[in-house]
Amino acid sequence: MRDAGLSDLLLEWYDREARVMPWRVSPQDRKAGILPDPYRIWLSEVMLQQTTVAAVKAYYQRFTARWPGVADLAAARDEEVMAEWAGLGYYARARNLLKAARAVVADHRGVFPATRNGLLALPGIGPYTASAVAAIAYDEPATVVDGNVERVMARLFAVQTPLPLAKPELTGLAASVTPDRRAGDYAQAVMDLGATICTPRSPACAICPVVRVCAAREQGIQAELPRKLPKPEKPVRRGRLWLATQGDRMLLQRRPDKGLLGGMLGFPGDGWDGAGGDAPAVADWREIGEIRHTFTHFHLYLTLHAAELPTNAAITRGQLVSGNEFSADDLPTVMRKAYDCLRETVTR
Ligand code: ADE
Repeated sequence: MRDAGLSDLLLEWYDREARVMPWRVSPQDRKAGILPDPYRIWLSEVMLQQTTVAAVKAYYQRFTARWPGVADLAAARDEEVMAEWAGLGYYARARNLLKAARAVVADHRGVFPATRNGLLALPGIGPYTASAVAAIAYDEPATVVDGNVERVMARLFAVQTPLPLAKPELTGLAASVTPDRRAGDYAQAVMDLGATICTPRSPACAICPVVRVCAAREQGIQAELPRKLPKPEKPVRRGRLWLATQGDRMLLQRRPDKGLLGGMLGFPGDGWDGAGGDAPAVADWREIGEIRHTFTHFHLYLTLHAAELPTNAAITRGQLVSGNEFSADDLPTVMRKAYDCLRETVTR
């Protein structure tokens, strides 16, 4: 360990400055014996992967209002959960969420396993989530490593190896400074530090509680770390979406569980996701515009083709769904963009 005082300094700072979050038990409450609910910690941590705290809050509130415990979530229909998740992205997370909830109910009598290893054995729970829940809900001294923690470690120890090569080294360093006691508060303290003070571009070293043990600051290179290998440019994929209406009904198609936007509602498409095909019905199709959306591995440009279907149209893909049976909020963001474009065209 580089400095025996590091975790103490961070915990003292966290006692004063912990951010308030709807799922979080404050350090004061935690000391008074209040324990976090593992279900809520798990739910929040899954939501927080790839998504900001600000974006997650409203989703978390809606999920916990609708499904207050793991058994409630396990009993939900897949479509309801996918609809509530719409807009958060990375939809495999929502499907894994359901798998894990159902396994907790079926195999653990509705009680979350209380160790990192037990959590890891659940379907869809990986090393990050298992460590975060074990630490935050059960105070197991598991090491929690996300992008914030990697940045903080790279700076504290002046690691010059670029990401992603540096990941194992940074994880090892993070483990070496994880304390045995107050592991949950400590994990959240490092994440808060990374989110509020040790930020990517201009770290606020003047108010940092651990500045005196920071090797990067000593060398004046804190803003340059962590180093990163150049990212390969994202390719562009192009395709079409078919936006068919019939009165107040829309032609929607649930996507296959596996693959991009798996399990989500959408419009029939063509040429961008391996699946595809021609227009789902014979009609007077008009091109109404283009939308752009960026996924992890590619940019997607889709031209939008709209038509009002004749009443006798033979539909080859999807189902007509009436306006009161679905909400545009149930659509993943890329499909929502197409929906909004169609609405704008219709009302113009
Ligand atoms: N980011 C992900 N999980 C977090 C947590 N528990 N506290 C602060 N930031 C986080």
